[in-house]
Amino acid sequence: MDQKREHKPHCLILPYPSQGHINPLIQFSKRLAHKGITITFAVPQDVLTSSSAADISASIAVETISDGYNSAAARADADPREYLVTFKKEGTESTSRLIEKLREGRGRAVDCVVYDAFLPWGLAVAKSKGLFGAAFFTQASSVNVVYYNVFKGLLKVPVTERETVLPGLPSLAVSDLPSFVVDQEKYPGVLELLVGQFDGVEDSDFVFVNSVYELEEKANEWMKKSMSIQTIGPAIPSIYLDKRIQHDKNYGLSLFKPDDICMRWLQQRSPKSVIYVSFGSIAKLEKHEMEELATALKLTGKHFLWVVRSSEVSKLPENFTDEASGKGLIVSWCSQLEVLAHDAIGCFVTHCGWNSTLEALSLGVPMVGVPWWSDQATNAKFVMDVWKMGVRAYPDDGGVVGHEELVRCVNCVMEGERAEEMRENARKWKELAKGAVNEGGSSDRNIQQFVSTLMGVTL
Ligand code: UDX
Repeated sequence: MDQKREHKPHCLILPYPSQGHINPLIQFSKRLAHKGITITFAVPQDVLTSSSAADISASIAVETISDGYNSAAARADADPREYLVTFKKEGTESTSRLIEKLREGRGRAVDCVVYDAFLPWGLAVAKSKGLFGAAFFTQASSVNVVYYNVFKGLLKVPVTERETVLPGLPSLAVSDLPSFVVDQEKYPGVLELLVGQFDGVEDSDFVFVNSVYELEEKANEWMKKSMSIQTIGPAIPSIYLDKRIQHDKNYGLSLFKPDDICMRWLQQRSPKSVIYVSFGSIAKLEKHEMEELATALKLTGKHFLWVVRSSEVSKLPENFTDEASGKGLIVSWCSQLEVLAHDAIGCFVTHCGWNSTLEALSLGVPMVGVPWWSDQATNAKFVMDVWKMGVRAYPDDGGVVGHEELVRCVNCVMEGERAEEMRENARKWKELAKGAVNEGGSSDRNIQQFVSTLMGVTL
């Protein structure tokens, strides 16, 4: 065999170090690995030590780089602007060193850096080493349309008009827009980060989006006029979608420890009877918001499984855990995909983080959207009005999503007049998601094209 053919193409993957970014990039990595690409996944040291690296996958090597911070807590407390400046400096140096180290290992030289769009300096590192650079967007294409219009100066912020009309999107009310486009004051620096995702992207050799082409066709079509985006989603473990690949029920590199009791508890519940509640890895609810949610769950009279991260537990109403026992189970983290895939789940009360939204959509679970910040309101808008597989719970005049509204939404999704229609739509999107990643589907073709390009270079 030709000596060169022994060298498999090699991608270095650079995720932003939070759960909602690590998950889709790991799954994308696994898909690439399955198609014959060597993968090195690079994260700060504490991400590695706070998770079980062993569970990531035998096909993926993990290495460390530095973001200049050494714990999730320090990262969370940091001023976003300072954090990004430090990460850019430390990340550029440590990633460059890593690429050199990998070059020295026989057959391990990196061909392409796949960088999270939150870390646009990844492209400069790739180019300085003469490598391909591929941007990876972890949010929906529709949300990209909004941020790209801000980036281009076509959408002035803060937005105050009642309705915003953007190409490829339905008309958006203020409450449907990503939160930072409306209010930058509360979290200074975050909008810069989000809009900065497009810095230099036109020089990237590839631009990937964790979405399904047909799911956001108009937004994708419009984005394609400006850059050659390729949808590769849903980036969720293949076992749920693509029966050819039988490995891994979870993403790997979980920053939280799942409570195993969930699956045993769900096993005892009847089909479509349980409300699953989770607000992802970042959202911090106010105490009164937790109280409204707790009251609503009690009032529905249904079984519920509620993920309350340990940092949030103190906000639960007193004695709620005891009172809820029997009907409800509260855990600090679960294996969300296994939960969503379980027959017993009837609806998902979610903050509409993009991963959670795509996961529910891919597993056919109707949603009640209770967006907290960022892109979540826009995702909730699509869940309700475009994909019609759920409803959004709206806040009252005081800005709080009250228990009556929550009960109304849960009932609407689980047993209301439109419940069957939503379930039917959910089944439709599940099939669409499956079709996209199965052989020859839109996402599979895009991934294959990327792999073939890399193979062409190195063979
Ligand atoms: C964030 C943003 O909120 C989101 O909108 C953005 O697009 C990506 O990053 P996060 O808030 O954590 O992420 O929410 P989400 O995007 O839903 O990601 C959470 C991930 O954690 C999901 O993949 C979900 O499956 C997983 N999870 C959550 C668990 O595995 N177990 C849990 O108990 C809760």
